[in-house]
Amino acid sequence: MSAHYQDQKAADDIEKTLNNESQNGNLIRHHATDDDEEPPRKRKDTEEHSSVVAAHYNHLEEKGLRERFNSPIFYLRNFNNWVKSVLIQEYTDKIREKDYGRSLRVLDICCGKGGDLSKWQKARVEHVVFADIAEVSVQQCQNRYEDLRSRCGRLYSAEFIAADCSKQTLRDKYRDPSISFDIVSCQFGLHYSFESLTQARRMLTNISECLKPGGYFFGTIPDANEIVSRAKKSPDGSFGNRIYNIKLLFDVEKGYPLFGGKYDFHLEGVVDCPEFLVNFKLFTMLASDFGLELVYKARFADFFKDHSERYRHLLQKIRCFESYPPPPGKELLADESEYEHAKEFWKNKENKMERDQIGTMSIGEWEVATVYMAFGFKKLAPTSWDSNGKPVFKTQTKEKGQSINDK
Ligand SMILES: C[S@@+](CC[C@H](N)C(=O)[O-])C[C@H]1O[C@@H](n2cnc3c(N)ncnc32)[C@H](O)[C@@H]1O
Repeated sequence: MSAHYQDQKAADDIEKTLNNESQNGNLIRHHATDDDEEPPRKRKDTEEHSSVVAAHYNHLEEKGLRERFNSPIFYLRNFNNWVKSVLIQEYTDKIREKDYGRSLRVLDICCGKGGDLSKWQKARVEHVVFADIAEVSVQQCQNRYEDLRSRCGRLYSAEFIAADCSKQTLRDKYRDPSISFDIVSCQFGLHYSFESLTQARRMLTNISECLKPGGYFFGTIPDANEIVSRAKKSPDGSFGNRIYNIKLLFDVEKGYPLFGGKYDFHLEGVVDCPEFLVNFKLFTMLASDFGLELVYKARFADFFKDHSERYRHLLQKIRCFESYPPPPGKELLADESEYEHAKEFWKNKENKMERDQIGTMSIGEWEVATVYMAFGFKKLAPTSWDSNGKPVFKTQTKEKGQSINDK
């Protein structure tokens, strides 16, 4: 089977697999229920993975400003933050375009240490539920929230939940289980649930069940297509550079499993644990069973093209790019050989002044940035209910790659 999700054959295989799963009763085209159980043999494996992931993130140290500034992924981090800020801004704007005064409630699922705490403040939301499997991270997120509140006085209200969102029901843990969200954001975390169909469905249930019709679910994930195509160019399914390394833990020549397509991901000082490929076509099809209609997807390189004009000020403010040539007395972050593209561009730049500079990123960092993709879904209203009282959705999932342009 081809591993390329854009391949027609892969798409057909997925459709076939999903239909088989449906017929076998493994995949039902409506909301997952609390009694979705994994077979016992699989359960032990997934428990081990979850605890490896939780332990890894729990042990990640919080980095001070100085350390972050000297990090070999300084600009990559800032760029990732830019992508998340743009997503938050675009989708909160979208909701406000229709209802200006609306108080926004948010679920930040797989929130980590709260990397987006101040982005929610800038988006002027009213309430955020932060949830993550790593309880130390959730505690750090809460501490950072208290800190932010004491510094700025007025801040959104928040609640903090430590839970495996691919296995537990979040709704039972909300202060108000009848809460409904305008926005669900899952940044760099959804792929951990693609270990099994049951886990992916539980994650999607948590994401969708309290999301209002007309609300948005958006996020960022590694692009399986990109990972597989890079791996195919290497003899042992492993590739990377001075700051990252990915090793596929299955034979890529035989295709990749729809769930449990496991790889080890090492990223300098940030990630070092097993992850799972997300076949985007499959993800979109599953999401449609939960009333989530795809409205946007783009690899980070295209995301940048789509939004760099409108959010140029933010790119500069949060320092996503390095100055080339470096200012007097400053050194480049990486070796000169990683800036050949910038050198060439600068050389050919017309009407430049002696002190002119361009913004760029080392090849090493850009290679990591372009592993990722962003997506957005809109929650539909159910068209009917089935005989078990479950909502039924009629989606016409279209893929839109150029702009966040649904109505
Ligand atoms: C790369 S971090 C991203 C953190 C945060 N969203 C950000 O952008 O800064 C991925 C997060 O996903 C969390 N995670 C992984 N599997 C999870 C699961 N099953 N349930 C909840 N959180 C999970 C990890 O603990 C980690 O904090």
